[in-house]
Amino acid sequence: MDWGMKNRMSRLIKPKDNRAVWLAIDHGYFLGPISKLEDPARTIKPLIPYTDALMLTRGVLRNCIDTGLDMPFLLRVSGGNSIAGPALSNEGVHTSMEEALRLNASAVAFSIYVGTEHEHQTLMCLGSLVNEGQRYGMPVLAVTAVGKELEKRDARYLGLCCRIAAELGAQAVKTYYCDDFEKVVKSCPVPVVIAGGPKLNTAMDALELAHSAIQQGACGVDMGRNIWQSPNAVGMIKAIRAIVHGNASVKEAAKLLKAR
Ligand code: R5P
Repeated sequence: MDWGMKNRMSRLIKPKDNRAVWLAIDHGYFLGPISKLEDPARTIKPLIPYTDALMLTRGVLRNCIDTGLDMPFLLRVSGGNSIAGPALSNEGVHTSMEEALRLNASAVAFSIYVGTEHEHQTLMCLGSLVNEGQRYGMPVLAVTAVGKELEKRDARYLGLCCRIAAELGAQAVKTYYCDDFEKVVKSCPVPVVIAGGPKLNTAMDALELAHSAIQQGACGVDMGRNIWQSPNAVGMIKAIRAIVHGNASVKEAAKLLKAR
């Protein structure tokens, strides 16, 4: 890995423990103004001190994020789909590598839809993005998207997606936690982070998810809704951070939910 690529990666995955707490706020690119992201700046303000990096689109970056913010970000460059459209899997690259460099992104993020009618399109786009990333020293995060088919989230499918993403050259992969998650991580030669998915029933469920993922080899989280849709968003991110960077147990982390 060349110096620039390595330097960008080390801003995202902290070298002191090789772990990462990323806050995902890119959902609007296909879901529109979902609950608690109507005003992203307001939602993330109290969460910033506990966040290693943001994941977002250029629109939210330019309009809602202070240029003085000393925090790396992963730029969502794929989309062209919407929750109202015919196929969530129909994504392409809408934000150029030149733009990612101009904005000072630390990585670009792209969703792949393995097993769908747009598998080939999204995998070839990922390959092209990696080619450009190699040229400019820009890491590529591949997101193993499932669209509305949340039931797809099992080790066999996610293991397939993560491995393909790594084989095509992605420097990191974002996927979902699942039973036998260890198998997914062990067969993926690049760092794996987990998304949280739709909001779970309880805060404890989200902490359990993050804890299990870290125990089974994830290097961190790139979570959104289970943090900022929580009525105790600051407590949630503090607790998640303790699990990721402090190796806290679920019980220890849960104490931080109460310490507002
Ligand atoms: C999809 O909407 C985005 O890629 C999100 O960044 C990803 O799903 C993580 O957010 P959450 O934890 O809310 O699933």
